[in-house]
Amino acid sequence: MSQDHYCVLGNPVEHSRSPWIHTRFAELTGQSLHYGRQLVELDKFHETLHRLQLEGCKGCNVTVPFKFEAAQAAKVLSPRAALAGAANVLSLRADGLYADNSDGIGLVNDLQNNAGVPLRGKALLLIGAGGAAAGVLGPLLEAGPARLTVVNRTHDKATALVARHQALAQSHGVALDAPALEALQGSFDVVINATASSLSGAGVPVPASVLRPGSLALDMMYGPAAQGFLDWAQAHGAQGRDGLGMLVEQAAEAFALWRGVRPPSAQVLAELRQQL
Ligand code: ATR
Repeated sequence: MSQDHYCVLGNPVEHSRSPWIHTRFAELTGQSLHYGRQLVELDKFHETLHRLQLEGCKGCNVTVPFKFEAAQAAKVLSPRAALAGAANVLSLRADGLYADNSDGIGLVNDLQNNAGVPLRGKALLLIGAGGAAAGVLGPLLEAGPARLTVVNRTHDKATALVARHQALAQSHGVALDAPALEALQGSFDVVINATASSLSGAGVPVPASVLRPGSLALDMMYGPAAQGFLDWAQAHGAQGRDGLGMLVEQAAEAFALWRGVRPPSAQVLAELRQQL
C-alpha cells in the first residue's frame, strides 16, 4: 500500500459518513491516506480484523454492532474504552490492536465547543443504558457537571451502569444517580438521548418536565431517526441538537490518534450540514 489505509467496519455500513469525514480531514490537514468502508458479516468481525492487519491497514472505526467485540479483540485498551467496555476506534499496530472510545469525548466536545454549552456545574440527564450510553458516561462525568442522572426503560441496566461509574463520579465531585423512570423528578440543563427509541417509532421515554426553558436536548442520532426527539424538544421550549456534531467530533479524535494532527472539525461539520 502506498498510502496508509483506514476503514469503518459495521453492519449496516453503507450509509456511514465516516469515509467522507476522514477524507475531508485528510485534505484539510495535508495528510495522504485512503479511508474506505467494510460491510462485515455478523460472525466475521475477528476474521476481518485479522485480514485487515495482514493487509497493512493502519486503523478502523467500528460501528454498530461491533463496538463490544472491538474492545474484546484489543490487546491494549485506553482507560475510557475499558470503562465503557466498548470501542469505536482501533489502531492496528505491529505489536497488536489498540482500542479507544472517542464517542464520549466527541459528545463533550460537540456540546461544549460547537453548541457552546459548558458542562461544568450543570445538571445532565442521560437517557439509555445500552452501548451508546456506556460509551459516553465516563467523559460526561470528567467534564465536571454538578449532577448526572441516568434513566432507562430497563431500570437494572441503568443502576449497573451507574455503579460501574460511581468511583469516577466521586473523584470528579459529580452526584450520579439512576432513579426509576417513574421516580424521575426535576428539570435538567442538558438532556441526552442515547436510546434507540426513535428508531422503533416509540415516543421519547421521559416526561417533558425534564426540560426547562433554555435546556439543550441532544439526540445521538441524526437525520430522520432524530427528528421525533428534536420536535419534542422544540415543542417544550428546549433547543434541539442532533448527533451530527458528535459524529464529526468522535472522528476528529480518532484522526488525531492515528495521524497526530487535529483536523478543523467545526469546518467539516458545517460542510456536512450543508450536504444533508
Ligand atoms: P446502543 O448500542 O445503540 O445503545 P443497545 O445497547 O441495544 O443499543 O441499547 C439500546 C438502548 O435504547 C437501551 O437503553 C434501550 O432500553 P432497554 O435497556 O430497556 O432495552 C433503549 N431503547 C430501545 N428501544 C426503546 C424504546 N422503545 N423505549 C425506550 N427505550 C428504548
